[in-house]
Amino acid sequence: MSITKTSSIPRQDRMKFPTTINPTSLPQWRVLNEHARSLQSVHLRDLFADNPRRAQQFSADAAGIFVDYSKNRITAETMQHLFALVDACALRPAIDAMFAGVPINHTENRPVLHVALRAPRDADIRVDGRNVVPAVHDVLDRMGACADRIRAGNWDGYSGRPIRNIVNIGIGGSDLGPVMATEALKPFAKPGLRVRFVSNIDGAHLQETLRDLDAAETLFIVASKTFTTQETMTNAQSARAWCLAKLKDESAVARHFAAVSTNIDAATEFGIDPDNVFGFWDWVGGRYSLCSAIGLPLMIAVGPDHFRAMLAGFHAMDIHFRDTPWTDNLPVILALLGIWHGNFMGYDTHAVLPYSQCLARFPAYLQQADMESNGKSVDRSGHAVDIMTGPIVWGEPGTNGQHAFFQLLHQGTRIVPADFIAVCRAAEPMGRHQDMLAANCFAQTQALAFGRSAADVETEGTPADLVPYKTFSGNRPTNTLVLDALTPRTLGALIALYEHKIFVQGIIWNIYSFDQWGVELGKKLAHRILEDLTRKDDGMSGDHDSSTAALIRRYRTHTSG
Ligand code: F6P
Repeated sequence: MSITKTSSIPRQDRMKFPTTINPTSLPQWRVLNEHARSLQSVHLRDLFADNPRRAQQFSADAAGIFVDYSKNRITAETMQHLFALVDACALRPAIDAMFAGVPINHTENRPVLHVALRAPRDADIRVDGRNVVPAVHDVLDRMGACADRIRAGNWDGYSGRPIRNIVNIGIGGSDLGPVMATEALKPFAKPGLRVRFVSNIDGAHLQETLRDLDAAETLFIVASKTFTTQETMTNAQSARAWCLAKLKDESAVARHFAAVSTNIDAATEFGIDPDNVFGFWDWVGGRYSLCSAIGLPLMIAVGPDHFRAMLAGFHAMDIHFRDTPWTDNLPVILALLGIWHGNFMGYDTHAVLPYSQCLARFPAYLQQADMESNGKSVDRSGHAVDIMTGPIVWGEPGTNGQHAFFQLLHQGTRIVPADFIAVCRAAEPMGRHQDMLAANCFAQTQALAFGRSAADVETEGTPADLVPYKTFSGNRPTNTLVLDALTPRTLGALIALYEHKIFVQGIIWNIYSFDQWGVELGKKLAHRILEDLTRKDDGMSGDHDSSTAALIRRYRTHTSG
């Protein structure tokens, strides 16, 4: 099935999406509050004991991902109330509006069309009356040609040696997605081709990345949606200087630099050959841009076929999200469980725990996707929101986390809802490693749900004074996501699952999920502080508070001379 233009929204109504609905004013919100109170003293042990079909009742699967959400403190009634809430919050028209290219990123007056990046060639998705899908596939084809050329050893550097090292320079959405996915799909990567990422303005990042690389065999990809981001532009200039110092000819830049940006003029001004500039569009948010040309380093690593398989996985989840009734709709279910935990149970963080070393960077990727999208406190009417919005998202891969922070998950005073992500078939099998990994994953969710009663601990002959310490309260909520295998396709579906979950939550919270004004102030202040850090005299050009002024003076004292 392909995405086609959704025509159900009359043009004159398009600016109105998503409509503004204060969720707390809805009767469904009040009902959920009352219902949550009635479940306060209910334990998962009893919910499981009372219903032998609980696991089947609260699980669903799509696009190669199975989700067991039975280990949450919910009942069938809870889900009914949550589905009623999402209807009352007008999710259906909001989904239609997004897929139809309505400018739902209201504060930037832009459509939100990452779904168009993975739509098949014959799809028709319009922005200002023009189908954007052909342009998407043009860029994908150009990326494919570039990736094939490098992978075949046919992209020669300035001195005639083939490119063997790719260094992507970008930050935030122009880094985290490609880093995460390149790590996740390492077993699919071409051996001998080194793909590295530099993001931090800390010079150590660039220097350590380049230390063992030969400039004659290195291609830099400068990835920046705006091509103005301070970190990326500074790193790109330093990389250019490093390259020229080694290759000693200005014209070498054309062979050793490519760019990915919506700002084609700025990229060519930097000196990058227009043939090596890959564009995308302002209707792609930075944190939703992995499927655009921002994915170029990944495509070079794993090849165009695997990249396209990943896009197909994204698309499968897009279609599932758009067309599946809420009761079986994975992004909607996960979003509603997050609302239940955050707004009705009062849990304020959310852990993402992949039992896969390849997914080690997935929690960091999700931090940007979720926290930059839903870390908002003004609603779509311009008023302060009076409920908790985006959770603090964090996590580390299992089993490492078990030996670090899991103590708090099991016996701490805070309840931390968690997504455990398990993989059935290892991409790189080795002895019993995969079985042990999965066993640990399932054991943790079991322990968190059911705990260990004092009576059980006593029967082990534990000394009475130690019984309280060895008791586990349990009743701690988790979802278990199971991938048949971590492949390009299932990775795409997994990422899209979370993207759409974030969208649904933003709709319910009545906030704008696709802008990020909150990152601007710090950037501006850093410019002013930078000026004062490097002043030769004792003055200050900026009007700083006393703490910041003292920090600037301290820095100056320790850097002068
Ligand atoms: O500072 C936040 C941010 O604007 C992110 O939203 C974005 O992904 C990142 O910076 C990088 O921006 P760019 O791709 O324009 O360099």
